[in-house]
Amino acid sequence: MLNLAIFVSGRGSNLISIFNAIKRKEINASVKAVVSNKINCPAIKFALKNQIKVFFVSEKEKKEFINFEQLKNQFLSDKIDLIVLAGFMKKIPAEFVEQFDNKIINIHPALLPSFGGEGMFGMNVHKAVFNKSCKVSGATVHFVNNKYDEGMIIFQKAVDISGLSSPEEIAKKVLRIEHKILPFVLKKFAEHKLREVNNRIIIE
Ligand code: GAR
Repeated sequence: MLNLAIFVSGRGSNLISIFNAIKRKEINASVKAVVSNKINCPAIKFALKNQIKVFFVSEKEKKEFINFEQLKNQFLSDKIDLIVLAGFMKKIPAEFVEQFDNKIINIHPALLPSFGGEGMFGMNVHKAVFNKSCKVSGATVHFVNNKYDEGMIIFQKAVDISGLSSPEEIAKKVLRIEHKILPFVLKKFAEHKLREVNNRIIIE
Protein backbone atom coordinates (compact mmCIF):
# COMPACT_ATOMS: atom_id res chain seq x y z
CA MET A 1 0.00 0.00 0.00
CA LEU A 2 1.34 3.40 -1.05
CA ASN A 3 1.26 6.02 1.71
CA LEU A 4 0.52 9.42 0.18
CA ALA A 5 0.91 12.99 1.37
CA ILE A 6 -0.99 15.45 -0.81
CA PHE A 7 -0.08 19.13 -0.94
CA VAL A 8 -2.84 21.60 -1.78
CA SER A 9 -3.48 25.35 -1.78
CA GLY A 10 -7.05 25.86 -2.90
CA ARG A 11 -10.04 24.14 -4.41
CA GLY A 12 -8.72 20.57 -4.04
CA SER A 13 -10.39 18.97 -7.04
CA ASN A 14 -7.27 16.90 -7.79
CA LEU A 15 -7.15 15.78 -4.14
CA ILE A 16 -10.78 14.69 -4.45
CA SER A 17 -10.13 12.81 -7.69
CA ILE A 18 -7.27 10.89 -6.03
CA PHE A 19 -9.36 10.22 -2.92
CA ASN A 20 -12.25 8.89 -5.02
CA ALA A 21 -10.00 6.67 -7.16
CA ILE A 22 -8.61 5.12 -3.95
CA LYS A 23 -12.15 4.67 -2.62
CA ARG A 24 -13.11 2.87 -5.84
CA LYS A 25 -10.05 0.65 -5.20
CA GLU A 26 -8.38 1.72 -8.46
CA ILE A 27 -5.19 2.65 -6.59
CA ASN A 28 -3.68 0.64 -3.76
CA ALA A 29 -2.91 3.70 -1.64
CA SER A 30 -3.94 5.67 1.39
CA VAL A 31 -3.97 9.46 1.86
CA LYS A 32 -2.07 9.75 5.15
CA ALA A 33 -1.76 13.53 5.17
CA VAL A 34 -2.90 16.68 3.45
CA VAL A 35 -0.50 19.60 3.64
CA SER A 36 -1.29 23.21 2.83
CA ASN A 37 0.10 26.72 3.00
CA LYS A 38 -3.49 27.94 3.47
CA ILE A 39 -5.55 27.25 6.58
CA ASN A 40 -8.93 28.08 5.11
CA CYS A 41 -9.23 26.51 1.72
CA PRO A 42 -11.81 24.08 0.35
CA ALA A 43 -9.18 21.32 0.02
CA ILE A 44 -8.50 21.47 3.77
CA LYS A 45 -12.21 21.39 4.52
CA PHE A 46 -12.49 18.24 2.39
CA ALA A 47 -9.56 16.61 4.22
CA LEU A 48 -10.97 17.39 7.65
CA LYS A 49 -14.41 16.13 6.66
CA ASN A 50 -12.81 12.86 5.59
CA GLN A 51 -10.70 12.47 8.75
CA ILE A 52 -7.39 12.95 6.96
CA LYS A 53 -4.55 14.41 9.05
CA VAL A 54 -3.76 17.98 7.97
CA PHE A 55 -0.59 20.03 8.37
CA PHE A 56 0.02 23.68 7.59
CA VAL A 57 3.50 24.41 6.38
CA SER A 58 5.45 27.64 6.06
CA GLU A 59 9.05 28.69 5.70
CA LYS A 60 8.28 31.55 8.11
CA GLU A 61 7.49 31.14 11.82
CA LYS A 62 3.68 31.29 12.07
CA LYS A 63 1.11 30.17 14.59
CA GLU A 64 -0.47 26.81 13.63
CA PHE A 65 2.20 26.24 10.95
CA ILE A 66 5.13 23.83 11.03
CA ASN A 67 8.31 24.24 9.01
CA PHE A 68 9.65 21.89 6.32
CA GLU A 69 12.15 20.28 8.73
CA GLN A 70 9.31 19.31 11.07
CA LEU A 71 7.24 18.13 8.12
CA LYS A 72 10.13 15.94 6.95
CA ASN A 73 10.33 14.28 10.38
CA GLN A 74 6.57 13.78 10.42
CA PHE A 75 6.70 12.12 6.99
CA LEU A 76 9.56 9.86 8.04
CA SER A 77 7.62 8.69 11.10
CA ASP A 78 4.39 8.29 9.05
CA LYS A 79 6.35 6.31 6.43
CA ILE A 80 5.17 8.48 3.54
CA ASP A 81 6.12 6.86 0.21
CA LEU A 82 5.10 9.59 -2.18
CA ILE A 83 4.36 13.31 -1.99
CA VAL A 84 1.88 14.66 -4.54
CA LEU A 85 1.71 18.37 -5.31
CA ALA A 86 -1.91 18.73 -6.39
CA GLY A 87 -2.40 22.46 -6.85
CA PHE A 88 0.27 23.51 -4.33
CA MET A 89 1.22 27.08 -5.14
CA LYS A 90 4.48 27.46 -3.19
CA LYS A 91 8.00 26.39 -4.07
CA ILE A 92 9.28 23.50 -1.96
CA PRO A 93 12.69 24.24 -0.34
CA ALA A 94 15.65 22.50 -1.99
CA GLU A 95 16.67 20.59 1.18
CA PHE A 96 13.19 19.06 1.42
CA VAL A 97 13.25 18.05 -2.25
CA GLU A 98 16.67 16.42 -1.74
CA GLN A 99 15.34 14.43 1.25
CA PHE A 100 12.57 12.97 -0.88
CA ASP A 101 14.45 12.51 -4.13
CA ASN A 102 12.19 10.93 -6.80
CA LYS A 103 9.38 10.81 -4.26
CA ILE A 104 7.68 14.11 -5.09
CA ILE A 105 5.47 14.53 -8.13
CA ASN A 106 3.55 17.54 -9.39
CA ILE A 107 0.64 18.10 -11.75
CA HIS A 108 1.00 21.08 -14.06
CA PRO A 109 -1.91 22.38 -16.15
CA ALA A 110 -0.04 22.66 -19.48
CA LEU A 111 2.25 20.66 -21.71
CA LEU A 112 5.70 21.16 -20.19
CA PRO A 113 8.33 22.35 -20.96
CA SER A 114 6.05 25.06 -22.39
CA PHE A 115 4.21 27.38 -20.02
CA GLY A 116 6.10 26.34 -16.91
CA GLY A 117 8.43 28.10 -14.48
CA GLU A 118 8.08 30.78 -11.85
CA GLY A 119 4.70 32.54 -11.87
CA MET A 120 3.17 29.88 -14.11
CA PHE A 121 0.44 28.39 -11.98
CA GLY A 122 -3.33 28.08 -12.08
CA MET A 123 -5.13 30.55 -14.33
CA ASN A 124 -1.86 32.32 -15.26
CA VAL A 125 -0.96 29.25 -17.28
CA HIS A 126 -4.27 29.12 -19.14
CA LYS A 127 -4.17 32.86 -19.86
CA ALA A 128 -0.67 32.52 -21.33
CA VAL A 129 -1.75 29.55 -23.46
CA PHE A 130 -4.82 31.51 -24.64
CA ASN A 131 -2.80 34.65 -25.43
CA LYS A 132 -0.40 32.67 -27.62
CA SER A 133 -3.41 31.38 -29.57
CA CYS A 134 -2.33 27.78 -28.91
CA LYS A 135 -4.50 25.12 -30.50
CA VAL A 136 -3.42 22.37 -28.12
CA SER A 137 -2.86 22.37 -24.37
CA GLY A 138 -2.92 19.62 -21.79
CA ALA A 139 -1.59 18.47 -18.46
CA THR A 140 1.74 17.09 -17.28
CA VAL A 141 2.69 14.93 -14.31
CA HIS A 142 6.39 15.19 -13.51
CA PHE A 143 8.92 14.52 -10.78
CA VAL A 144 9.91 17.58 -8.76
CA ASN A 145 13.51 18.74 -8.66
CA ASN A 146 14.90 22.03 -7.40
CA LYS A 147 13.94 23.95 -10.55
CA TYR A 148 10.35 25.01 -11.17
CA ASP A 149 8.53 22.51 -13.41
CA GLU A 150 11.77 21.01 -14.75
CA GLY A 151 11.81 17.55 -13.21
CA MET A 152 11.53 14.50 -15.43
CA ILE A 153 8.17 14.17 -17.15
CA ILE A 154 6.21 11.05 -16.23
CA PHE A 155 3.03 11.44 -18.25
CA GLN A 156 1.25 14.00 -20.41
CA LYS A 157 -2.03 14.24 -22.22
CA ALA A 158 -2.95 16.83 -24.81
CA VAL A 159 -6.36 18.36 -25.45
CA ASP A 160 -7.66 20.19 -28.51
CA ILE A 161 -8.47 23.78 -27.53
CA SER A 162 -8.84 25.17 -31.05
CA GLY A 163 -12.58 25.75 -30.63
CA LEU A 164 -12.39 27.35 -27.17
CA SER A 165 -12.85 31.06 -26.64
CA SER A 166 -11.56 31.88 -23.14
CA PRO A 167 -8.84 30.89 -20.62
CA GLU A 168 -11.65 29.66 -18.34
CA GLU A 169 -12.86 27.21 -20.99
CA ILE A 170 -9.29 25.95 -21.43
CA ALA A 171 -8.92 25.51 -17.65
CA LYS A 172 -12.12 23.48 -17.51
CA LYS A 173 -11.11 21.16 -20.33
CA VAL A 174 -7.57 20.68 -18.98
CA LEU A 175 -8.87 19.99 -15.46
CA ARG A 176 -10.95 17.08 -16.74
CA ILE A 177 -7.71 15.57 -18.08
CA GLU A 178 -5.87 16.26 -14.81
CA HIS A 179 -8.47 14.26 -12.91
CA LYS A 180 -7.70 11.28 -15.12
CA ILE A 181 -3.92 11.39 -15.46
CA LEU A 182 -2.92 12.03 -11.85
CA PRO A 183 -4.78 8.97 -10.49
CA PHE A 184 -3.42 6.98 -13.45
CA VAL A 185 0.19 7.87 -12.57
CA LEU A 186 -0.41 7.08 -8.89
CA LYS A 187 -1.82 3.70 -9.83
CA LYS A 188 1.29 2.95 -11.90
CA PHE A 189 3.57 4.22 -9.11
CA ALA A 190 1.79 2.00 -6.57
CA GLU A 191 2.22 -0.98 -8.90
CA HIS A 192 5.96 -0.18 -9.34
CA LYS A 193 5.41 0.28 -13.05
CA LEU A 194 7.45 3.46 -13.53
CA ARG A 195 11.03 2.90 -14.66
CA GLU A 196 13.79 5.29 -15.61
CA VAL A 197 15.51 4.25 -18.83
CA ASN A 198 18.04 6.50 -20.65
CA ASN A 199 16.84 9.62 -18.86
CA ARG A 200 13.19 8.94 -19.65
CA ILE A 201 10.36 7.58 -17.54
CA ILE A 202 8.84 4.49 -19.05
CA ILE A 203 5.40 3.37 -17.89
CA GLU A 204 4.82 -0.38 -18.15
C1 GAR B 1 -4.79 22.53 -11.06
O1 GAR B 1 -5.19 22.93 -12.33
C2 GAR B 1 -3.29 22.24 -11.04
O2 GAR B 1 -2.81 21.68 -12.23
C3 GAR B 1 -2.72 23.63 -10.85
O3 GAR B 1 -3.58 24.22 -9.91
C4 GAR B 1 -4.90 23.69 -10.07
C5 GAR B 1 -5.37 23.23 -8.71
O4 GAR B 1 -6.70 22.83 -8.77
N1 GAR B 1 -1.36 23.58 -10.41
C6 GAR B 1 -0.45 24.47 -10.78
O5 GAR B 1 -0.69 25.41 -11.49
C7 GAR B 1 0.95 24.22 -10.22
N2 GAR B 1 1.92 24.92 -10.98
P1 GAR B 1 -7.32 21.94 -7.63
O6 GAR B 1 -7.00 22.62 -6.31
O7 GAR B 1 -8.79 21.93 -7.92
O8 GAR B 1 -6.70 20.56 -7.71
